[in-house]
Amino acid sequence: MTARPASDDLSNFWMPFTANRQFKAAPRLLVSARGMYYRASDGHEVLDGCAGLWCVNAGHCRDEIVAAVQAEAASLDFAPTFQMGHPLAFEAAAKVAEVMPAGLDRIFFANSGSEAVDTALKIALAYHRARGEGQRTRLIGRERGYHGVGFGGISVGGISPNRKAFSGSLLGNIDHLSHTHNLEHNAFSKGQPAWGAHLADELERLVMLHDPSTIAAVIVEPVAGSTGVLIPPQGYLQRLREICTKHGILLIFDEVITGFGRLGRATASEYFAVTPDLIALAKAINNAAVPMGAVAAGRHVHDAIVQSGMPSAIELFHGYTYSAHPLASAAAIAAQDLYCKENLFARADRLAPAFERAAHALADAPHVKDVRNLGLVAGIELESRVDAPGARAYEVFVKCFEAGVLVRYTGDILAFSPPLIVEEEQIEHMFGTMRKVLASVQ
Ligand SMILES: Cc1ncc(COP(=O)(O)O)c(C=O)c1O
Repeated sequence: MTARPASDDLSNFWMPFTANRQFKAAPRLLVSARGMYYRASDGHEVLDGCAGLWCVNAGHCRDEIVAAVQAEAASLDFAPTFQMGHPLAFEAAAKVAEVMPAGLDRIFFANSGSEAVDTALKIALAYHRARGEGQRTRLIGRERGYHGVGFGGISVGGISPNRKAFSGSLLGNIDHLSHTHNLEHNAFSKGQPAWGAHLADELERLVMLHDPSTIAAVIVEPVAGSTGVLIPPQGYLQRLREICTKHGILLIFDEVITGFGRLGRATASEYFAVTPDLIALAKAINNAAVPMGAVAAGRHVHDAIVQSGMPSAIELFHGYTYSAHPLASAAAIAAQDLYCKENLFARADRLAPAFERAAHALADAPHVKDVRNLGLVAGIELESRVDAPGARAYEVFVKCFEAGVLVRYTGDILAFSPPLIVEEEQIEHMFGTMRKVLASVQ
């Protein structure tokens, strides 16, 4: 897969989260996409086992979304949303609100998951201040959490390579819960692991250490994706909710990956029947057609901020030039309509057992030390090579791509999270290809 673009010069684009020199020596270029497939620059088709980057939940280049974006580009290319508005921004907010848990129907738009997370953290701080509890400034994240790359996100996040170079400049007043990943107890769990709910009790310990009156919010991914598919133990999220409620701490779910159908429901909050105070969203909010992120805020949070002060005063000094950009809004409305028309969340739910079976069929494949799954997401953890962590999964990723299947890897963990339109045969093909590739690598 070394076909190069016309200019043959890849040097100008400094690629994100990429080994630039390695990639540019042997590039993998995608030139078009439709439905479940990408087409690479050498013409071969690649089955999208990852919904791009966990985001194209309705499949690629869907006609309805393309048409909506094209029409909006031709009629309203840009409109400010500071002290101005445009109709699609309000309509997009209403569509998103419709599928959020009851009460979380106030939608603040951003342009990415990172911005959504930083927005949620700022809203949490502003909420406490508006209620006269401005001393609540501490934020609690979790080890192995991924909350994007803003300074807020990497501070509450728990992935050390993402923090290392910036460690002197992270936000202060942060603490972290332990992560919940434990293969000794939970290897090869199907769905939620049975062991580990007690890890939520660490929050009580942190609350006692810092005093509840200093803590603003706890942020977790209900299912952690980027850090290697970590499924919450049974009862864990419920326990976090109880402790937050008891101490007046806001609970933020980062649903940038789980939002819009990944677990067979609109949100992980709905799936787990645990309602946070704020939800960070992005990616599938508009099927990733145009960059967009959002925060769904509980009315109690919104009202505490927006009902404070004079009606003529700006309540929250925060926002982005492109908040609710017309093209992103048009794509969000079309994507939400498509999810609804095709009943895609229910489809993901229906496919989940077949997906689980196909994933766990890899349990006896070479190098596999764990398989875990929930909804339409699965993680396959490999034994690492001595002195070369990540090298084996990288090789599997490259060979799968060459064999026409896109998989994601993090360290030595491989992840599948296909568009919700995936067919059962395609699920079999994804995992079957990985089995063959696993047998071919050292
Ligand atoms: C849980 C979570 N939060 C935040 C982000 C950051 O989103 P973005 O890359 O759009 O900034 C991601 C991206 O994968 C994510 O998985």
